[in-house]
Amino acid sequence: ARILILNGPNLNLLGLREPEIYGADTLADIEARCADAAERRGVRVDFRQTNHEGTLVDWIHEARGAVDVVILNAGAYTHTSVAILDALRAFEGKVIELHLSNTHRREEFRHLSYVSFRADGVIMGFGAPGYLMALHAAADMADADRD
Ligand code: DQA
Repeated sequence: ARILILNGPNLNLLGLREPEIYGADTLADIEARCADAAERRGVRVDFRQTNHEGTLVDWIHEARGAVDVVILNAGAYTHTSVAILDALRAFEGKVIELHLSNTHRREEFRHLSYVSFRADGVIMGFGAPGYLMALHAAADMADADRD
């Protein structure tokens, strides 16, 4: 299976910004754990981060026909971006929405997710280990699609 993990704005500062909310692990730590898990699970993972909304749109377009599952932590664009939602709607594979924090326990403006209008599943509130949960869920989804 081919799995694309996309990270949006400010996630490059993981481990440095608001560690009481997002934890001490860096995005590089998480990427390394995902690479290990992918190898053990026999799936191909591509892990990326950008601070730019349009770049996320471009990457979702590239996933069309090339990727089985997109795992997306869109950061703050989760709560604002119709463009990302529309791009996800143009992608025919599975979509897993991912957040480190439980956004429903936080400010009201984080309760609306445009990504959720398209996501097949959502994993949130588990911190960095949520990335591995999402990876295994994605591999399971791709396996189920093949049977
Ligand atoms: C986040 C939650 C968003 O509300 C926030 O803007 C982020 C990170 C999370 O992973 O918990 O940047 O997506």
